[in-house]
Amino acid sequence: MAILETQNLMKDFGGFVATNNVSLQLIEGERHAIIGPNGAGKTTFFNLITGHLTPSSGKVIFEGKDITGMVPHKVVRLGLARSFQRINIYPRMTVFENVQVALIARDHNHFKLFSLGEPHNRQDTKDLLELVGLDTEALEIAGELSYGKQKQLELAIALAENPRVLLLDEPTAGMSPQETDEAIELVDRITKERGLTLLFTEHDMSVVFGISDRISVLHHGEIIASGLPDDVRNDPEVRRVYLGESLDGEGH
Ligand SMILES: Nc1ncnc2c1ncn2[C@@H]1O[C@H](COP(=O)(O)OP(=O)(O)OP(=O)(O)O)[C@@H](O)[C@H]1O
Ligand SMILES: [Mg+2]
Repeated sequence: MAILETQNLMKDFGGFVATNNVSLQLIEGERHAIIGPNGAGKTTFFNLITGHLTPSSGKVIFEGKDITGMVPHKVVRLGLARSFQRINIYPRMTVFENVQVALIARDHNHFKLFSLGEPHNRQDTKDLLELVGLDTEALEIAGELSYGKQKQLELAIALAENPRVLLLDEPTAGMSPQETDEAIELVDRITKERGLTLLFTEHDMSVVFGISDRISVLHHGEIIASGLPDDVRNDPEVRRVYLGESLDGEGH
């Protein structure tokens, strides 16, 4: 059964069609990669799902509920969290405060107004920081962390909502090979531990083929292939789009 589904999703930016008739079903518990060249429409597709953009037509269904056009904070509240291609944290706050603010926002969303700033947030914050391996950096200024650690912090913030589906837009962009390995190990462990469904975009083919159960390929806003990694790798249309690039998932 699909936990998240798009039906004929379209986004037209004043005559330029960035998302063209995209129908995708995400199976509960799977890790699904969306790949495609720069400008293929990956981020736009995510924005349509999470309410950061309104589709021109088509539908987004989450757990059987039509969430098309729903505002982002409501989408998050339902259990669909995301990270962004560009770092999205409060750089001047501490690591601890960043996560705490996310937890307070969650409680506020759930109308637990009396719990604002209560000690339980502190424990939840500690737990989340430990989960992503940032417990020793709790009191550091977020903006001063290494890039890889800022991305870990973003993950903790996304997890603060206790999502069932996680959307990660290029979780390893700008990372060194070592940071990439660590980040993917972390995502791998957390999604397994929490039984999360993962939808992610990524340019690093070793990451894509390393952790995906299924892969869909976007090209000019359209899905040109979708299926098991080996099938996608051997698809002639996909090989044409990725002409000259390795789809073997070796090395970085
Ligand atoms: N707000 C907008 N208005 C007009 N065009 C846009 C807008 N947002 C994106 N586009 C265009 O839509 C296309 C898809 O962009 P998008 O950012 O979704 O691609 P992407 O696959 O995420 O690329 P990348 O791999 O570089 O992150 C691009 O041609 C982009 O210029
Ligand atoms: Mg993008």
